[in-house]
Amino acid sequence: MQRRDFLKYSAALGAFSALPLWSRSAFAAERPALPIPDLLEADAQSRIRLTVQAGKTTFGKHTATSWGYNGNLLGPALKLQQGKQVNVEIRNQLSEETTVHWHGLEVPGSVDGGPQGVIAPGKSRSVSFTPTQQAATCWFHPHQHGKTGYQVAMGLAGLVLIEDPHSQQLLLPKSWGVDDVPVIVQDKKFTADGEIDYQLDMMSAAVGWFGDTLLTNGAIYPRHAAPRGWLRLRLLNGCNARSLNFATSDKRPLYVIASDGGLLAEPVAVTELPMMPGERFEVLVETRDGKPFDIVTLPVSQMGMSIAPFDKPHPVMSIQPLRVVASGMLPDKLVPVPALPSLEGLTQRTLKLTMDPMLDQMGMQALMDKYGAQAMDGMDHGAMMQHGGHGQGMNHGTMGSMDHSGHGLDLHHANRINGQAFAMDTPQFAAARGQHERWVISGEGDMMLHPFHIHGTQFRILSENGKKPAAHRSGWKDTVKVEGGVSEVLVRFDHDAPEESAYMAHCHLLEHEDTGMMLGFTV
Ligand code: C2O
Ligand code: CU
Ligand code: CU
Repeated sequence: MQRRDFLKYSAALGAFSALPLWSRSAFAAERPALPIPDLLEADAQSRIRLTVQAGKTTFGKHTATSWGYNGNLLGPALKLQQGKQVNVEIRNQLSEETTVHWHGLEVPGSVDGGPQGVIAPGKSRSVSFTPTQQAATCWFHPHQHGKTGYQVAMGLAGLVLIEDPHSQQLLLPKSWGVDDVPVIVQDKKFTADGEIDYQLDMMSAAVGWFGDTLLTNGAIYPRHAAPRGWLRLRLLNGCNARSLNFATSDKRPLYVIASDGGLLAEPVAVTELPMMPGERFEVLVETRDGKPFDIVTLPVSQMGMSIAPFDKPHPVMSIQPLRVVASGMLPDKLVPVPALPSLEGLTQRTLKLTMDPMLDQMGMQALMDKYGAQAMDGMDHGAMMQHGGHGQGMNHGTMGSMDHSGHGLDLHHANRINGQAFAMDTPQFAAARGQHERWVISGEGDMMLHPFHIHGTQFRILSENGKKPAAHRSGWKDTVKVEGGVSEVLVRFDHDAPEESAYMAHCHLLEHEDTGMMLGFTV
């Protein structure tokens, strides 16, 4: 197909149709292959070495300074065995402090890598722990106080795969980078001279930092050649703030087999899979018919996230089945997920998420000043009208009469939990080890999306934003959706987290986290 015809043809088709984007592209051959992170297992001494380093990465037409673990961007996938101790030696070669947090791992506070676990520039830190939880796809990323958003945007993130004997016995696809494929999705934006364009300002503190370029394992719209049969995708929404909504371009179903904390009781077929920042789901998708298709992300109704090009289905990667046939299968049953215990007599805690009304208002104003009304497309107008009195006049330039200079607003303490912005040395409460607790997380004060995450536990969602959780969100989770409503989770902590290494509970919209929507608690 000639390029001219191709352009006409694709314009006529619109951005989303039954035809895979891949088959419409005259340039499919030029598309980058999906980069596959190395699998890194502990050596004979049970050691894993990680170096946090700076380098350069080319993203399309931009070549930028980027950060990575053992490389220029992102990091290896660490493969850990249940019940086997591992020693991780982390060397920080950056010129600033960082920490390495094990998101989703049930490990003691002393090795959790929260904001207290600082590694000075040029220094190292060793942590040892033994994963006891079931097989799961987790991840690691920095948790530097006030700078998590920046350090993740620079490229620091990697996967942690926990394996256990039961998951090994299931006939799931297991060939790394072939039919068992990591898919880390992140958005970025770039300055005119091609550098990663991060800022923590009024706008990003309110709605989060987002970009116009979508990266899959660091590459733009890559392709993956997969054997025919079943393909397993380990999806991570690694964006700072953007929620995604995964689907296939030809509407073939995604069979969800695992959530944040591991396998579900049985696969759950979906045609759309919304994922908030920090969340992981593993899905199987059938490639038996040999037809190419795309994984796409559909538009979402999160403030600021429907700005072009995300106002239309956006390609994540293309999948091109090969002739070879794969051996993995989709089992009917996965692992037993225990019934919820009785909720009677449990300790109950309320965590009330709030945003400074001035930040909320000025952030939205800044968003509309910059992007126009499109920034609010897809938002629920009913919710907007109720929202903190901003209802009268959501149009450009008419949003109240507040002092737009931001005087009197302390950005770094503008977001709070139970009225307090994060304070590193004052944990808000002590949870009892080994006891179930019911946590009630409320985000009723605003209409923002708060992907709420808790360290040191895999929990169960009792209700999510006032509703019963969807089937694929009813297993083990470490992140729950809070958006203008109330969510309840059943948590239990099986490790200690003393005062000097308290666990964190926070909004995983990283700019909310970095501006105070986080608390420490001890176990
Ligand atoms: Cu993914 Cu407290 O972090
Ligand atoms: Cu975490
Ligand atoms: Cu939030």
